[in-house]
Amino acid sequence: MEILLTTEQIQARIAEMAAQIERDYAAGEGIHLVGVLKGGFMFMADLVRAMSPRVTMDFIAVASYGKSTKSSGEVRMLKDLDSGLEGRHVIIVEDIVDTGLTLTYLQDILRARAPKSLKTACLLSKPSRRKVDVAVDYVGFTIEDRFVVGYGLDYAEKYRNLSHIAVLDD
Ligand code: IMP
Ligand code: MG
Repeated sequence: MEILLTTEQIQARIAEMAAQIERDYAAGEGIHLVGVLKGGFMFMADLVRAMSPRVTMDFIAVASYGKSTKSSGEVRMLKDLDSGLEGRHVIIVEDIVDTGLTLTYLQDILRARAPKSLKTACLLSKPSRRKVDVAVDYVGFTIEDRFVVGYGLDYAEKYRNLSHIAVLDD
């Protein structure tokens, strides 16, 4: 498979993103990261290791309904968060924003829980595929419309364990 982003490129960019996030929140304020399973697990693991001890984390798991209803943006909750978000600075940590439907759903349901602030960090973004205009505050890499795997991203549950990101052959 063609390597799109090497391990080194990913790690360097995550260090920059972590530094940016740390600068954007006042010292002494906690930052609560919400990792989106399963795709976001590796990004979450590396991002939090590049951040200061003020970070806390939780995980949520969602799945899109079948392709036919995907355009409706309906998403099924598989695992909810363990704790509430009220009054906390929250950042959603996602692997990739494609059509934007999953992220829009997540932002809507988490915003309803009254966090002090809500932002989103995505390692990858495919802007050419967007169906809804969704705000992403931190983007690792903007990529073309190609199906990618690795670094948490799967094809039929495989390749999540790659430490780099590759383009899946047809
Ligand atoms: P969206 O709702 O279309 O933005 O879909 C986002 C979700 O689709 C991501 O969280 C991924 O799970 C999946 N996805 C989108 N593009 C890719 C890709 O290129 N490789 C693997 N998964 C992808
Ligand atoms: Mg995902």
